[in-house]
Amino acid sequence: MPKMDAKNAVRYLMQVSLRKFSFAAEDSDETISVNIPEVLDGNYGMYVWPCAVVLAQYVWHHRDKIKGQCIIELGAGTALPGVLAGRLGAHVTLSDACHLTHCLDNCQRSCHANDLTGVKVIGLTWGQFSPEVLQLGQMDVILGSDCFYDTKDFEDVLVTVKYLLEKNKRAEFWTTYQERSSRRCIEHLLDKWSMTCRQVPLASFHADHPHLAGSTLPGDHNIQMMVITIR
Ligand SMILES: C[S@@+](CC[C@H](N)C(=O)[O-])C[C@H]1O[C@@H](n2cnc3c(N)ncnc32)[C@H](O)[C@@H]1O
Repeated sequence: MPKMDAKNAVRYLMQVSLRKFSFAAEDSDETISVNIPEVLDGNYGMYVWPCAVVLAQYVWHHRDKIKGQCIIELGAGTALPGVLAGRLGAHVTLSDACHLTHCLDNCQRSCHANDLTGVKVIGLTWGQFSPEVLQLGQMDVILGSDCFYDTKDFEDVLVTVKYLLEKNKRAEFWTTYQERSSRRCIEHLLDKWSMTCRQVPLASFHADHPHLAGSTLPGDHNIQMMVITIR
């Protein structure tokens, strides 16, 4: 748990609520629950976005190949997909922007709320290559939920992804995207950085309904799941 003084600890406790996300197999009685502390705050990375629940459902759907994999989550915020991957046995690194320390604290809290040890939490600002980022080992899967929300950051996100995919050319970037404007597009950037994208229908991993993981996603969110790889 990040250290706080008494005043901040009381303020934090008054704002925080614990949300439980439960994932269940379609064809067996296998289940898993993940607790995520959310803070009532206007900042982006303080609560679980609908994209995170959809991406976590994708991780759950692929649980058989998650164990032992090296996985990094970008722009993790409360880190539901990454924490789920950790619970499923992956070696997980959670990241958020270097200067957004409250988001990095959130990542730590989410691990703590699930008794998850051994997860690395690092500052990783998209498009920037600090010594810590340059020292990252090979990743098998990169997770990113709702990282494409501000067009000014799109290329920076993809530059970071490209760097990680170059280290392991068989790695994949699993990302969910909430369509907020039909004019937003990453195709030209994928071309520029020699990457390719496969759309994954939500129905193919049972994410095509508004009640997902025990959480109600407002049904009219237009969320897309994409797998991006190096060309
Ligand atoms: C819309 S929120 C999504 C949070 C979380 N992935 C989810 O889906 O619940 C965007 C996240 O990106 C992080 N972020 C914003 N700008 C960033 C940057 N330049 N580099 C890295 N992370 C950034 C924010 O702190 C926030 O956690």
